[in-house]
Amino acid sequence: MTQQEKTLTMTVLMTPDMANFAGNVHGGSLLKLLDQVAYACAAKYCKNYVVTAALDQVFFKQNVNVGELVTFYARVNHVGRSSMEIGIKVFAENLRTHVRRFTTSCFFTMVAVDENGKSVLAPELKLETELERIYFEAAKLRKQMRQESLEKSRALELDSQQDDF
Ligand SMILES: CC(C)(COP(=O)(O)OP(=O)(O)OC[C@H]1O[C@@H](n2cnc3c(N)ncnc32)[C@H](O)[C@@H]1OP(=O)(O)O)[C@@H](O)C(=O)NCCC(=O)NCCS
Repeated sequence: MTQQEKTLTMTVLMTPDMANFAGNVHGGSLLKLLDQVAYACAAKYCKNYVVTAALDQVFFKQNVNVGELVTFYARVNHVGRSSMEIGIKVFAENLRTHVRRFTTSCFFTMVAVDENGKSVLAPELKLETELERIYFEAAKLRKQMRQESLEKSRALELDSQQDDF
């Protein structure tokens, strides 16, 4: 398994249609691109259709400006039975000064599904470097925390269909 199969890089120019009322890039525009990157990274890795199951720890560390060239670096951190954690780091580059800033990071859980939307096996992640092992262990912990949090919500019926919020 090559690094290319586990990672994906996408670069997008931030155009005026992505702006918010303050003139910066809208968080929602970035989230849409992040979801596309996570989809492409996971689908390429497992060679299967995938859906987004969860998104957590989205950190908008710095704002992104219209006109900047933004690069999304995605990596498969962890693979369970059918789920894959995709970690994404985002850097924005000012095209005039070439100054690059780390702006955003997040973790997507993508699930490989069949044509009926049922989860299917994803290929085992082969850990080849020390860094990959570190990412894997950290992602494994996050998966456990997600599961515990889901179980607590279910016990408290916080995820029920009731519209009594
Ligand atoms: C994601 C989905 C396929 C999971 O269905 P499910 O019946 O829970 O499937 P399973 O029980 O087989 O679980 C599949 C995997 O998803 C993971 N998963 C399920 N719910 C999850 C959640 N809320 N957060 C994180 N992971 C989750 C499970 O841990 C499991 O991982 P594993 O196979 O690696 O152990 C289903 O909930 C779905 O189709 N959701 C809608 C997806 C969608 O429309 N996305 C676009 C959002 S706008």
